Amino acid sequence: MEILENPGYTVPVQPPARDGVRWLRGRVPRFAEGPVHARRRALAERMLGALDAAALRRPGAPVANLAEALGLPRSAAADVALVASCYQPHQCVTAAADEAVARLVAAAGGRWDEETAVRLGLLVQAHDAVRAAMAGREPPVPTTRRIAPDGSEVVVDLAARPFGAGRHACPARAQAGALVDGARLFRRMHDGPEPLVLPNAWDVASAMALVRAGFAAVGTTSLGVAAAHGLPDAAGRTRSETRELASRLVALPVPITVDIEYGLGADPAELASELAVLGVAGINVEDGRPGGLAPAAEQAHLVRAVKDAAPELFVNARVDTYWRHEAREETRRRADRYVGAGADGVFVPGLRDSALIGALARDLPVPLNLLSQLPLRQLRDLGVRRVSTGSLLFRAALKATAETAESVRAGDSVTGLPTYDEVAARTLDEPPGPLAGIETENPR
Ligand code: HEM
Repeated sequence: MEILENPGYTVPVQPPARDGVRWLRGRVPRFAEGPVHARRRALAERMLGALDAAALRRPGAPVANLAEALGLPRSAAADVALVASCYQPHQCVTAAADEAVARLVAAAGGRWDEETAVRLGLLVQAHDAVRAAMAGREPPVPTTRRIAPDGSEVVVDLAARPFGAGRHACPARAQAGALVDGARLFRRMHDGPEPLVLPNAWDVASAMALVRAGFAAVGTTSLGVAAAHGLPDAAGRTRSETRELASRLVALPVPITVDIEYGLGADPAELASELAVLGVAGINVEDGRPGGLAPAAEQAHLVRAVKDAAPELFVNARVDTYWRHEAREETRRRADRYVGAGADGVFVPGLRDSALIGALARDLPVPLNLLSQLPLRQLRDLGVRRVSTGSLLFRAALKATAETAESVRAGDSVTGLPTYDEVAARTLDEPPGPLAGIETENPR
């Protein structure tokens, strides 16, 4: 009999504990056997059966989708990520993960009971497996562990059984499929009949305004994030501000892509991995550096490291030859190298030369992204697949701010703005709902 189906081989059963990660381990089906396992598993299956598959398939971060479907705030995803890194009994528990469990219990209604643990357990089980599936890892969960009758620990290979087998087999195959499908939506948005118009936000309020205006995905602008904090752009000083913003934006019901320059002063691969854990759908990495362009080989290495660290992210490789007015003749060679290193898209800000745009769009095997510096229709006809606003909206907001204040000073009336109550009502506790008309199936 296979180990997974053999009752003599048990999961590492976890004793009850008062709080923290150990409390969670001691209350979920995953680390229980016998009638206790059967009872908790039945509870998990009931919860899974009540989930709406369409809600799981929504655009946006998969764990946030699942959290919402399970009645938690979408913003629970960041805490789920913390707990997932310590969930298995052979992993060590951190104080941060224990605190995250306490916040999750509070978010789930505040009861430290079995029902709450099973609910949170679903989120934690989903976290790593769904990320790995999105990254195309086969099998997403490579191994599991059992305790043999002689008390030794056995590592079981899951290559032939990606969802396990026997009494602990994954009860959420269908839900996993729906979540992965939704999470891949950002990629598919580049394949639609029209270019993806990707507006760039600099804080939660601007991102929410864009979601409310019907944009299907939102990016960030590094200039906007830096300037809003009084910091210089492209100087590697906004890592914590950007990470913090990303951890909030993933609560929105649309895919989020984050501009990380060339690492924001951190190891870009590490930062990419942190953002992927949060449920970000994509990142932009650029080859511009304070003194000029990075050597193409060095940047290709960076793109490869980022892809290896976070394979599920849509990595948009920015070629700064036109932006920096430097080595323009290298544009295509650089784009090819970054694609060879695993880039999922190529972004050439500042490029307006129709002949080169058309050639790149035709020849590159990945979507071409440009700034909205030419009319949308022209970009579409040239084959551009993504059109970003970069820092445009942030700069427009600065202008509107100063002009509105000047109107007040001049005694003019200011009309047509959202009211205080409307803006006050826009919080991440109640983010805008699913967007009507967003294509959630593959448009091809
Ligand atoms: C592609 C994604 C997924 C894969 C490949 C996967 C795989 C697995 C595997 C191999 C096991 C068995 C572990 C063992 O026997 O030791 C398992 C258990 C489990 N999975 Fe999944 N899973 C996925 C997604 C999910 C999702 C989205 C959820 C929740 C919504 C979930 C909930 C669970 C639960 C609760 C268990 C424990 C069941 C028990 O012990 O009775 N999984 N999963």
